[in-house]
Amino acid sequence: MNQSPRSEKEKKYLIDAIDAFNRKLLIIAPDYTILAANTVAMAGHSESIIGRPCHEIILGCHEPCANCPAKDVLRTGSASLRYDQCYNLDINQDMLCLYSYPVYRNGEVDALVMLDFDLQALKNVEERRIRSNGFLRNLIHSAVDGVIASDPTGKILIFNDAAAQITGYTVEEALNDISIRDVYIGEGAREIMRMLLSPEHGGEGKLISYHIDGKNKNGQVVPISLNASIVYENGKKVATIGFFHDRREEIRIQKELEKTQVQLLQAEKMASMGKMAAGVAHQLNNPLSGIILFTKLVMEDYGLPEDALKDLERVLDDARRAKDIVKELLEFSRQTAHEMKPQNLNEIISRTMFLLENQSIFHNIDIRKKLDEHAPIIYGDAQQLNHVFMNIILNAADALNGTGRLTIQTSVCPENKIVCVEISDTGHGIPEDVIHHIFEPFYTTKEQGKGTGLGLSIVYGIVESHGGHIHAESKSGHGTTFFIEFPVVESENGGIQIG
Ligand SMILES: Nc1ncnc2c1ncn2[C@@H]1O[C@H](COP(=O)(O)OP(=O)(O)O)[C@@H](O)[C@H]1O
Ligand SMILES: [Mg+2]
Repeated sequence: MNQSPRSEKEKKYLIDAIDAFNRKLLIIAPDYTILAANTVAMAGHSESIIGRPCHEIILGCHEPCANCPAKDVLRTGSASLRYDQCYNLDINQDMLCLYSYPVYRNGEVDALVMLDFDLQALKNVEERRIRSNGFLRNLIHSAVDGVIASDPTGKILIFNDAAAQITGYTVEEALNDISIRDVYIGEGAREIMRMLLSPEHGGEGKLISYHIDGKNKNGQVVPISLNASIVYENGKKVATIGFFHDRREEIRIQKELEKTQVQLLQAEKMASMGKMAAGVAHQLNNPLSGIILFTKLVMEDYGLPEDALKDLERVLDDARRAKDIVKELLEFSRQTAHEMKPQNLNEIISRTMFLLENQSIFHNIDIRKKLDEHAPIIYGDAQQLNHVFMNIILNAADALNGTGRLTIQTSVCPENKIVCVEISDTGHGIPEDVIHHIFEPFYTTKEQGKGTGLGLSIVYGIVESHGGHIHAESKSGHGTTFFIEFPVVESENGGIQIG
């Protein structure tokens, strides 16, 4: 700063500059009397204002103003701005926003400078501040991820709409009734804090993409991915802010994908087994026909004794059984359906049931049919579909071993354009380690001579060739349900055809 005395020319420029300043400027003594004023401050006063109390000039009152910034300056020794009360008064607005600062001489406040401010400019700044605060608040509230900030005691300071959706708490409840500890399972909040303070999880004060279990208002677990950081102010921890991403949908899609992968693998396995089975079946068919034919000839033509005929009868029985298996193998290996026509599933199921119901194994079984009469038409081969239901129902009868309940239900999921068939029994169920194998060819848990293990693999192939899906759910000891889905035939105008 220039400490040398000012020249007259310099002083004149300074005075001119203060007069040219287009806001009112007063220099006042600590007793509030006016010591000097610029031209704008003097304008409008017929008499000199020098030596008069500033409050008389500014507000026309006898006492120093209640909200006087000069009072602040005298009390604190530093500059003060008073403008807030101005919003409530519309008189003389120009003078009501005042800025004051001290002029020191020999370490004492010798005088005060009082400046009136452009209230409109200040108001604009304030409005911008309010608007930008509002924008930030809006930004936080409309964020897709949950945003939760808490102070070092755990009190929640910020809680946006997505956080409310994830946790089930309303914003008011979160801000008033709960703490950050309530949105985690167990000691989750403490664990997060410990990791935030360590440098190993994305840097000190930061935690990146951490998977943790959150807890909603009902106490249910909500898996979340969390990005969190500590907020510092002047080197002091003032808050923790977390961005919560709900992982439920992601996990659902992942599971679906895994299921599809398993289904794909299964389909691939079936296709290659199918080709192999077809080859073997063709090779076996001719020799088996030969065995049957020549055994019959020997039995008829040679007048053999009774014992020999009995033995040959056994050869014939076994050869016929082998031929039946070959027939099933060929059925299994057929990859495409033969006669695809619009079909009413309810009718096909009723026909299959009619054939089975009168058989003795079903006499003590409580059969319940719940067929949705609005079930739409599907494309299919009636004989093959009959084979599907027959196989599943016969397996159910085996599992029921004479008593229990068998339920066959059809329903529609119009949005997905799918007809669902559920066939459940209250039989012995399928153990967990068995259920993954039931659609595999030759997989059977039945005693030799009772099961071929081909039934469900044929069912699987037929359902897939109809564009459908099949899966089974079971609880060992409590029964089994097969879920079969077929795509609905769409009519030309895009609607579905009702059966
Ligand atoms: N409803 C059911 N309840 C219990 N187990 C079943 C049921 N359906 C099928 N299974 C199991 O799946 C296996 C394979 O069935 P499948 O392919 O029809 O062959 P099979 O009936 O010749 O054994 C059966 O041996 C049985 O263990
Ligand atoms: Mg079977």
